[in-house]
Amino acid sequence: MSGNDDAQNLSPESKAFKFGLDVINQSEPQIADYIRAELENQRSQLKLIASENYASPAVLLAMGNWFSDKYAEGTPGHRFYAGCEFVDKVETLACEHAKDLFGANYAYVQPHSGIDANLVAFWALLSHRVEAPFLKNHDAKHVNDLHDDEWETLRKAFGNQRMIGMSLDAGGHLTHGFRPNISGKLFSQRSYGVNPETEQLDYGNIQALANEFRPLIIVAGYSAYPRKVNFAKMREIADSVDAVLMVDMAHFSGLVAGKVFTEEYDPIPHAHIVTSTTHKSLRGPRGGIVLSNEPGLADHIDKGCPMVLGGPLANIMAAKAVAFAEAKSLDFQSYAQQVVDNARALAEGIEKRGGRLVTGGTENHLVLVDVRSFGLTGRQAESALEEAGVIVNRNSIPFDPNGAWYTSGIRLGTPALTSIGMSCEDMDEVADIICSTLTSVDPATTASGDPSKAKFILSDVVQSSARERSAKLLQENPLYPEVTSLI
Ligand SMILES: Cc1ncc(COP(=O)(O)O)c(C=O)c1O
Repeated sequence: MSGNDDAQNLSPESKAFKFGLDVINQSEPQIADYIRAELENQRSQLKLIASENYASPAVLLAMGNWFSDKYAEGTPGHRFYAGCEFVDKVETLACEHAKDLFGANYAYVQPHSGIDANLVAFWALLSHRVEAPFLKNHDAKHVNDLHDDEWETLRKAFGNQRMIGMSLDAGGHLTHGFRPNISGKLFSQRSYGVNPETEQLDYGNIQALANEFRPLIIVAGYSAYPRKVNFAKMREIADSVDAVLMVDMAHFSGLVAGKVFTEEYDPIPHAHIVTSTTHKSLRGPRGGIVLSNEPGLADHIDKGCPMVLGGPLANIMAAKAVAFAEAKSLDFQSYAQQVVDNARALAEGIEKRGGRLVTGGTENHLVLVDVRSFGLTGRQAESALEEAGVIVNRNSIPFDPNGAWYTSGIRLGTPALTSIGMSCEDMDEVADIICSTLTSVDPATTASGDPSKAKFILSDVVQSSARERSAKLLQENPLYPEVTSLI
């Protein structure tokens, strides 16, 4: 058979990626090589990073085209650039899909990432709750109508607002008011943590903090908390102190879209404003969104550009529209349920093999393991598992004695392995690979003979056995099986 015949027999996905790489190869062959190598690398590892996933070929392909070339500052129909007819259609479709998928009255799909979505939300809230009343009091329509001294007063008022969010060691995120992030420099912040006994949220404590601190914004949402959050209760707390409830569902938006989190666990009906990434459990392109059902907020969110964003990425908005369309399917609902079932199976598998689970289990897509139960730090466990072909990330656990760098935990997530078709039975095997590796790791000592928090010893035999078992699982559940040839 000739090379041409071979190409004709390929799947459309193989052809699309193969021919795309042929074109890239003509400009910078090293990048074509790295793209091929990345797929091989991902195909050889068990990916348990809770914030990652595998987007469909349709989502990936929607990103690589001439929509990337277009500037479109503004919103559909109100652009600062000409020639936006089809960007308008793309953005409108992505918004319609997002509203339909999440049951929201309003969607903004321009944020380039989760951090941007949160920035848009914070500034929309400041614009709604601080700037708009100030302008009204000063008989002004626009900030440019204010005198310099009035503007200075308003600027100071922006910097004088309070927020509360979940503490980092309890599973919160840096963008929820922590000092290394702009949110912590902008707001005066206090954190709510978890109950030391249950390691779960204590709504009474959150209420007490809100009563005492009187925040403008209460942020709910997490990146490493293995339980559901009751958003109806969080809204009651916000209402009782006249605060705004902002939910960052970056991690679990796939479970909301897939109707696993409903009623009080679905943030959309309860929060004033909801943000998310689109690339984690939602299985879309890297990006962010903002949703709201609150009358009067949409106009403020729409000003994300120029407030904190430049031109939107039209190619990414196209891929978001594709991902949202996919997430509306019944298949996606089954996927989301399987993500949660798999997390539970993984948690049970680890617990029965001696691993201590933070909060004693999971109700979402992630499992937090206290690896002190294997005599290790999070750093040692993460590195040892990487050598064994299992990709996880180290993570603080509540009240972590090892701090945020070495940590005492590892965070495991099931969205990616579920995307490639793994089942609860497979999760038991994954749990066994993880636990048999961690049980065999010995912490090493530093040059001065003290116990090291980073170094460890893992035998080649254990390593290669783990790799073989992972390879078998991955062979049975291949990544992008429709992509058979890239050369
Ligand atoms: C809860 C939460 N919010 C926001 C973000 C930021 O998302 P991005 O990395 O897309 O900026 C993350 C990312 O890990 C997250 O977990």
